[in-house]
Amino acid sequence: MPILIHPDPRLKKVCDPVTDITGDLRQLSNDMLETMYDAPGIGLAAPQVGILTRLIVLDCVKEEGQAPRPTVMINPVITAHSDTQNVYEEGCLSIPDQFAEVTRPAEIDVSWLDVDGEEQKATFDGLWATCVQHEIDHLDGKLFIDYLGPMKRQLITRRMQKLKREQARG
Ligand code: NI
Repeated sequence: MPILIHPDPRLKKVCDPVTDITGDLRQLSNDMLETMYDAPGIGLAAPQVGILTRLIVLDCVKEEGQAPRPTVMINPVITAHSDTQNVYEEGCLSIPDQFAEVTRPAEIDVSWLDVDGEEQKATFDGLWATCVQHEIDHLDGKLFIDYLGPMKRQLITRRMQKLKREQARG
């Protein structure tokens, strides 16, 4: 699936909750996982492929030889977070080749529905915690560059506008 590049109004929208877990939604989550692995990336949110619904996919297993852990979260909610924080250099498939340090809670409790409609709960830390928060932000129209100062954010946005102009020219 084509991934939207910032700036795009669809990346700034608050997405609607999923009300029905249909075959189409399962297909969409599989397509999104494939798109994410192809990119390659560790997380992807539905609005990044132009679908304004509360669905994210992720797999933060990076070590060679470790079993992949494809994870689909429908209507994910952060129910608790630690006071301790973590700093990670973040990037985003909608903001290619741009990275910046973002501070977020180090540990979070999350609840969501899986593709079978079963309620799931888990605690995440490390890269997983950062990635889940980054992806849930996408569902609320928020990008990692929104955590940066205005100068840095504008610089990155201008670079992306230039990239999009170049892509449009082919
Ligand atoms: Ni992102």
